[in-house]
Amino acid sequence: MARITAGVATSHVPAIGAAIDLGKTAEPYWAPVLAGYAASRAWERAAKPDVVVLVFNDHATSLMLEVVPTFAIGCADRYKPADEGWGARPVPVVEGHPELAAHIAESLIIDEFDMTILNDMDVDHGLTVPLSLLFGEVDAWPVRVVPLMVNVTQYPPPSGDRCWRLGEALARAVASFPEDLNVQVWGTGGMSHQLQGPRAGLINSAFDRDFLDKLTADPEALRRITRLDYLREAGSEGIELIMWLIMRGALGRDVIERHRFYHVPASNTAVGHLVLEPA
Ligand code: DHB
Ligand code: FE
Repeated sequence: MARITAGVATSHVPAIGAAIDLGKTAEPYWAPVLAGYAASRAWERAAKPDVVVLVFNDHATSLMLEVVPTFAIGCADRYKPADEGWGARPVPVVEGHPELAAHIAESLIIDEFDMTILNDMDVDHGLTVPLSLLFGEVDAWPVRVVPLMVNVTQYPPPSGDRCWRLGEALARAVASFPEDLNVQVWGTGGMSHQLQGPRAGLINSAFDRDFLDKLTADPEALRRITRLDYLREAGSEGIELIMWLIMRGALGRDVIERHRFYHVPASNTAVGHLVLEPA
């Protein structure tokens, strides 16, 4: 049977992708950011997942505002890095797992999560920067990926609690896939940030650190954070953190925290990162 062996949470700051692609990771601004992922990369090499269910958001790159699904799942064979305005990132094409994706889609829909099916899409920094952070510069990504997309760009996003319950349903879906697969679930985006308006540049480190603490030890408390709480405390783009709750909901009640990293600033936000394993 397929089994979920770990969860990863990480920011997806696009400037980190640019720093990697332009060979700037040794610069004083970026070196500490990349150093913060060294232990997780070593852990990831040993963990050898077959598939990552990568919970992410598109930033009006692949899906423009004509159609905005609340929850969508990628069922394609492969996903090309998207052109976000300055050319596609020079990173490998992302290989999908259409059989597992189709199974998860069916199981989630029977479980009353009405997923949109994505059979063709390019993937932006929301998906490729986490891969770069955890796997580094490679000729081919060492995993297959099932992209699970969440709307956090167009009002109204789903609630954090709904995301948590989607994570629980995702765990049931993976556990009922007959092939023996080592599956990780990643929740990406965040942490507190706001990119526009009078509060542009907002970073709330106290909120971020409390979120990291609770994601490991008291995740039930995070289910109660409302959209307005995120907006007030974590800025307009802090809502990306609801994607971490899908990952956490999939892991079950007790977890072991393997790695943690928190660093301010990187571009307009804080970089937050956790590696969790089911206890
Ligand atoms: C930044 C962060 C994001 O999550 C994003 O999607 C775009 C930009 C930033 O910090 O600049
Ligand atoms: Fe983002």
